Amino acid sequence: MSNFRWGILGTGGIASAFVEDLRLANGHVVTAVGSRSLFTAQEFAKKTPGARAYASYAELVHDDNVDAIYVATPHPWHKEHTLLALNASKPVLCEKPFAITAVETQEMIKAAQANNVALLEAMWTSYLPHIASVRKILISGVLGEIYSVEADHGQRLADRGIARLVDPHLAGGALLDLGIYPVSFAHMVLGAPDTITSSAVMTDRGVDAQTSAIFDYKSGAQAIITTNMIARTPCRAVISGLLGRLEIDSIFYNPASMRVVLTDGTTTQYPNTYLGHGLREQAIEMARVVSNGQLESALMPWSQTLAVMQTMDQIRSQIGLTYPCEN
Ligand SMILES: NC(=O)c1ccc[n+]([C@@H]2O[C@H](COP(=O)([O-])OP(=O)(O)OC[C@H]3O[C@@H](n4cnc5c(N)ncnc54)[C@H](OP(=O)(O)O)[C@@H]3O)[C@@H](O)[C@H]2O)c1
Repeated sequence: MSNFRWGILGTGGIASAFVEDLRLANGHVVTAVGSRSLFTAQEFAKKTPGARAYASYAELVHDDNVDAIYVATPHPWHKEHTLLALNASKPVLCEKPFAITAVETQEMIKAAQANNVALLEAMWTSYLPHIASVRKILISGVLGEIYSVEADHGQRLADRGIARLVDPHLAGGALLDLGIYPVSFAHMVLGAPDTITSSAVMTDRGVDAQTSAIFDYKSGAQAIITTNMIARTPCRAVISGLLGRLEIDSIFYNPASMRVVLTDGTTTQYPNTYLGHGLREQAIEMARVVSNGQLESALMPWSQTLAVMQTMDQIRSQIGLTYPCEN
């Protein structure tokens, strides 16, 4: 089988981490990188020998030696850069949060359909092996009916000089960057909430420093999600049902150990044996989706990406978080 060839769009921190982890995946190569500057593209290409450097994203997406584009720019440009690639008939793996709003998300999905090319959200957690085990455990029914999901994601980042986290013009704030993980996790377990109650503390620049939300479901279940960019929180997730609970250790959205603890005291451990960062699993899924002629992944279907962004919109509306860049 020939290699799956990646084009990297944007040369920031996560693009470097993705390329690094891709080295651990068989059959994946980076053949091109696009930046807003040729120098930056060339510097990045040094990490990926053989990769062609482009001085613009537009040139990158037209490279015939690329099978898929990884969009790794800040959130406000996810839609623009995804559409650029899709309209050049290139499959896209787009970083989280997928977009700024659900409306943007719909536009991106429509473009994938119109161009008949694959589009995946780089919610990398969804493609990880321990999450495959979570899905199996939920389907098995061993936990009984699920009534509670708790997940938190707090990192001390606000004082680290990361512009895109604190600047409203870059769609900053904890919710979009960090809160997306617990929000997405709750959707995976319980689906879209029926009602949402949120509260936030805002920074003096008008983005959320920390946000918490309770998701209520008609079934009687609740999900409690918290996120903040000021202080590190445990970053754990717990799913509780009538017969027991599943505890995912820190950091729950990375490859992580976990255990099932049943109400009779029986405990089953799931050690974490994963090697590497975990960003390559989404790339492997993309290659599988493309080679099967599919447009989306069952592990993170468009319906879920859209539902997550609708929830994000609702939370933002409740906490008064608006961005100059949103449409
Ligand atoms: N999956 C994860 O674990 C994870 C982790 C971190 C971030 N992310 C997501 O990945 C995205 C990028 O995050 P990052 O931390 O890699 O950001 P970053 O280090 O700031 O890099 C973003 C890159 O985007 C390009 N870019 C295009 N327009 C830009 C603009 N107007 N301002 C700044 N950069 C611009 C730049 O590349 P060129 O100069 O080459 O054009 C820049 O290097 C975000 O949406 C974030 O949520 C995901």
